[in-house]
Amino acid sequence: MKPPYGDVEKLVFGRTFAEHMFKMKYSEGRGWHDAKIEKYGSFTMDPASCVLHYSQEIFEGLKAYKALNGKMLLFRPEQNARRLNRSARKLCMPEIPEEDFVNAVKELVLLDKEWIPDAPGTSLYVRPTMIASEAFLGVHPSKEYLFYIIMSPVGPYFKEGFNTVSIYVEDQLVRAAVGGVGDIKTGGNYAASLLGAMKAEEKGFSQVLWLDAKEHKYVEEVGAMNVFFVFGDKVVTPQLTGSILPGITRNSVIALAKDMGYEVEERRISIDEVLDGIKSKELTEIFGSGTAAIISPVGLFHYKDNNYYINDNKVGSITRAFYERLVGIQYGKIEDTMGWSYELK
Ligand code: PLP
Ligand code: COI
Repeated sequence: MKPPYGDVEKLVFGRTFAEHMFKMKYSEGRGWHDAKIEKYGSFTMDPASCVLHYSQEIFEGLKAYKALNGKMLLFRPEQNARRLNRSARKLCMPEIPEEDFVNAVKELVLLDKEWIPDAPGTSLYVRPTMIASEAFLGVHPSKEYLFYIIMSPVGPYFKEGFNTVSIYVEDQLVRAAVGGVGDIKTGGNYAASLLGAMKAEEKGFSQVLWLDAKEHKYVEEVGAMNVFFVFGDKVVTPQLTGSILPGITRNSVIALAKDMGYEVEERRISIDEVLDGIKSKELTEIFGSGTAAIISPVGLFHYKDNNYYINDNKVGSITRAFYERLVGIQYGKIEDTMGWSYELK
């Protein structure tokens, strides 16, 4: 029988949606209420809803995987619950008990389990979202919210699959500044990144690397992933300065790297240090990390009209080792010695 999402080869990231969605309302004084699962579909909103004017919105991204033995797995879902609440605090939105968040994801995925694709590299992407739904035009925190979860069966995020991507280093536009909201998952950060992404795409590059807002000197992160630099057996990633998203995959790669015997440094790293490292070949590999992007090898940085190829634009062995270990745990192919898998049953 054909799966409900059709031809797995044709899945484009985030274009097809599973049959059901989770919904829950919040109002001041009453708290969270009316939790229910219903058919995926449109909902009506007052045109004055706060989110539509002042962007009081936060979201998360995690995946459900079908393991070889038929088990269904989530990867560290409590971390998404925790990060959503961190985002909520920063945008004056109500928190959701971690257990309720994880249970909502669990119930929904189990109901739509036939929407988890099982071809290699595919998964069911889960998108929990919270929006401010009170209708008013004054600028203050909403007194009403809607939390919902939708899901999308997905293949690779990048059309390149597990192959090198080329990255445009943006030295003019800024995505986020320290003291702002770059360290939480809120829609405005992504809106702010669109112009840079379009500029990069027009020039033929697949992603943007953002630098710090103040000096345009220190590496921050890529549009939808954190970034790692391999210097021999040392792995370096930008420290969490306050304008970078604390990626769950980033945190996992750091733990895996330590477990695999690499020295890990979380510190400021300048674009000059990166380019010098590429030129001298001391910097041997670069890769990005993210839920959607998984581990994504970088083959080229373009900075101020110059191309800098990394590892001759080939996937490096350390990048591949991290990819295999991470994906091995996510799909239950290898033993989860880190205790990250959450079995749905
Ligand atoms: N940075 C940004 C801006 C992102 O959108 C994402 C994706 O969620 C990441 C980093 C990686 O975070 P995670 O590994 O938690 O998916
Ligand atoms: C994720 O990796 O979960 C993301 O949110 C990236 C993205 C599609 C914005």
